[in-house]
Amino acid sequence: MNGESGPADRHAIVCRGLRHAFGDKVAVDGVDLDVAEGEIFGLLGPNGAGKTTTIRLITTLLPARPGMVEVFGLDVARHRMAVRRAIGYLPQQLSADAALTGRENVGLFARLFDVPRRQRGERVEEVLAAVGLADAAERRAQTYSGGMIRRLELAQALVSAPRLLILDEPTIGLDPVARDGVWERIQEVRRATGMTVLVTTHYMDEADQHCGRIALMHRGRVQALGTPSELKSGLEPGATLEEVFRAYTGDRLDEPGDGFRDARRTRRTAGRLG
Ligand SMILES: Nc1ncnc2c1ncn2[C@@H]1O[C@H](COP(=O)(O)OP(=O)(O)OP(=O)(O)O)[C@@H](O)[C@H]1O
Ligand SMILES: [Mg+2]
Repeated sequence: MNGESGPADRHAIVCRGLRHAFGDKVAVDGVDLDVAEGEIFGLLGPNGAGKTTTIRLITTLLPARPGMVEVFGLDVARHRMAVRRAIGYLPQQLSADAALTGRENVGLFARLFDVPRRQRGERVEEVLAAVGLADAAERRAQTYSGGMIRRLELAQALVSAPRLLILDEPTIGLDPVARDGVWERIQEVRRATGMTVLVTTHYMDEADQHCGRIALMHRGRVQALGTPSELKSGLEPGATLEEVFRAYTGDRLDEPGDGFRDARRTRRTAGRLG
């Protein structure tokens, strides 16, 4: 945690006592998390559990106080710009501009994220190829399918060659083939670079297949943490991850107010991508 420790306990992310409220609505309620360098860590939980808010605290988009967040040993409250430079972020909400071409969209992020001018052109072509969009790079994003848009947004998040990639529902609203396509690209880049990945998803099969460890959030708290097999066998022999999810979050239907707003937000996002 102090940056002086050995390789075995190097962390990409450390959160302690993280808390955030919107007015009197407590969205994140004392979250502790350790994400090791190089792992794919899944943040799961029902709509409104606090996943996106936790991500916004880690990415410096919300103030991480009270509590503490370190990214590669840097306190996000004190080293905001350095932390931002280390992170590639694919937000839950649409981040591509429909009127720009694929190449222009990625180029814009390369400038925003301070990719040195001399490397920009090359980096943009590299990530477009890495997500399988080289042939579509000249087309405006408005002509892309939902799967292509999510891969374009992945390219935007990757263009700064981040050490930590944060993906908020990267496969929402995609068909199974498009979902596999997104995950293949993520896995390829990770194998090549050793980057750490923090991801949220509502697809339990994806989490089971791709995440090394999972934190299950509910009502702003981490309710369960472990590898997919630890979580499953911890419930009962032969349990599925979906059953684990239900076991820890089964009482969510008694929150009608939030549920309505959260469903609306989720559907709006899915609709725009679909
Ligand atoms: N900007 C905001 N203003 C007010 N309340 C908010 C805001 N953002 C989130 N919330 C509330 O905070 C809680 C956690 O929301 P958050 O978006 O972090 O959940 P989530 O786990 O990402 O859900 P989803 O799976 O639907 O994306 C919810 O009750 C939500 O309504
Ligand atoms: Mg969310």
